[in-house]
Formats: sequence, C-alpha cells, structure tokens
Amino acid sequence: MRVRIVGIGMGPQHVTAEAAEALRSCDYAIAPEKSDDDALLAVRRGICAAHDLELVAVPDPARDRDDPADYAGAVRDWHAARVRAYEEVLRERGGTAAFLVWGDPSLYDSTIRIVTELAIRLPIEYDVLPGISAPQLLAARHRIVLNGIGQPVHLTTARRLGEAVAAGGTNIVVVLGRRLDLSPASGLSDWSIWWGANLGTPSEELVAGTVADVVSEIDEASARARASAGWIMDVCLLRQASS
Ligand SMILES: C[S@@+](CC[C@H](N)C(=O)[O-])C[C@H]1O[C@@H](n2cnc3c(N)ncnc32)[C@H](O)[C@@H]1O
Repeated sequence: MRVRIVGIGMGPQHVTAEAAEALRSCDYAIAPEKSDDDALLAVRRGICAAHDLELVAVPDPARDRDDPADYAGAVRDWHAARVRAYEEVLRERGGTAAFLVWGDPSLYDSTIRIVTELAIRLPIEYDVLPGISAPQLLAARHRIVLNGIGQPVHLTTARRLGEAVAAGGTNIVVVLGRRLDLSPASGLSDWSIWWGANLGTPSEELVAGTVADVVSEIDEASARARASAGWIMDVCLLRQASS
C-alpha cells in the first residue's frame, strides 16, 4: 500500500507537473467531506476528474469547536477519528491512494500527521509533494517579500496573534483569520497590512495599507468574498511601521 500526499495549491492552476505525475500514479484519492456543499471537496473533485482519478469522499468526523480551553485535545480527538475513517478505506481498497491537500501539506494541515499515524497501523509507504501555500500566493499577489532584509518572519494563527506581538514579533503572517482583531484595542492600528481572501479563486480580494486606514475596506472585501463564494479564507502579513 502506498499513500501520496499531494499539495494542490489554491486550485487546479497550481497543480505542479510533479503533483500531476504523482496523481497519475494513484488508484484513487481520499478526501474528507465536511458538508453537502463542501467547496474544497468540489475543487478536489475537479482536479481528480482532470487527472482521471476516482475520488472516495469520507464524511468528516464532527469536531468539537466549543471548547477553546482544550483546543489541542479537541483537534487530537478529531484526528484520531479521521485516522479510523481513512484506515477503513485503505484496508478495503489497498493500492495507491492520494490525499489532495489544499495549499502545501507542511502548513497548518493535519494530513501528514494522520498518514504518519496510519503508517503505524498499516504497512504503507508514503511521500509528500509540495504545493503553493496561501502565504506564498499572498506575497506574489501583493508583489512583496515576506521578510525584511535578513529579518525573521513569524507565522501564526489569528487566535495567537496577540501572543506573537507580546513576544516582540514585528513581521507576522497570520492564517486562520476568522478571529483576526484589527480594532484599536489590538494595538496594531499603525502597522502595515497586506491582506488577501479567497486567493487564486474567482472571489479573490486584496487590500493593503495602514491597518487603521484599511480596516473597513477589509471588512467590505471580506463580505464581498463571502457573498460571492459562500465561504471565506483569508491570510495577511502584518508589519510594525518601524521594522
Ligand atoms: C488550515 S490552513 C491551510 C493552509 C494551507 N495548507 C496552505 O498551505 O496555505 C487554512 C488557512 O490558510 C489560509 N488560506 C488557505 N487558502 C486560502 C486562500 N485561497 N486565500 C487566502 N487564505 C487562504 C487561511 O488563513 C485559512 O484559514
């Protein structure tokens, strides 16, 4: 049995030649199905159809999102349930399976951890094919370098942004932006922001400027992206004015 973890970037236009070759070598793809109108599943279906690959949709186990106090525990339980669901498919079908990962598998994605767990339970070999990540596409769209010359980049989630700023971060890429706080209370009003939503899709939105000047523009662009696609994913780079 073999598993190929394939980064698909932000859609079919980002499937690299290497990823396409990997998909051609697979017997089927396994993908989580989060709801009846799962937009990312639809993208995966399109990519599989384009590469003549059967897609096995596996209903995604419910995740407890109501207990931020035990966020890590809730995610661990959810991963364990996913492992069990995928193990069943692999045992039944065998062969070579692909997991199509949104963006790059190395960034805020659990597939590598899940497949590592599967490899303990099943005799599988696995490899990883990289994809274009949201921060990479953000940088390309805004034509920026994520780091200042010789400077570090901190990459974190919106829920941990305050922690990153308190620890002295001055150049921060923020993913999972649902709880991004750009209000005056955040202390970020005079920082620069480069923001993007639904990058690489028809509902893409971009905004850049000083936080205080563009915060309402970001709200409006978010509403447009959500209204147009029915969902929103956003990412941004925040940089302190003096750095
Ligand atoms: C679970 S993480 C997955 C990241 C992904 N593996 C990558 O390489 O970009 C999802 C987050 O990535 C960012 N993201 C993913 N796709 C995006 C897109 N098309 N436009 C903007 N941000 C995106 C958002 O911050 C979103 O909340």
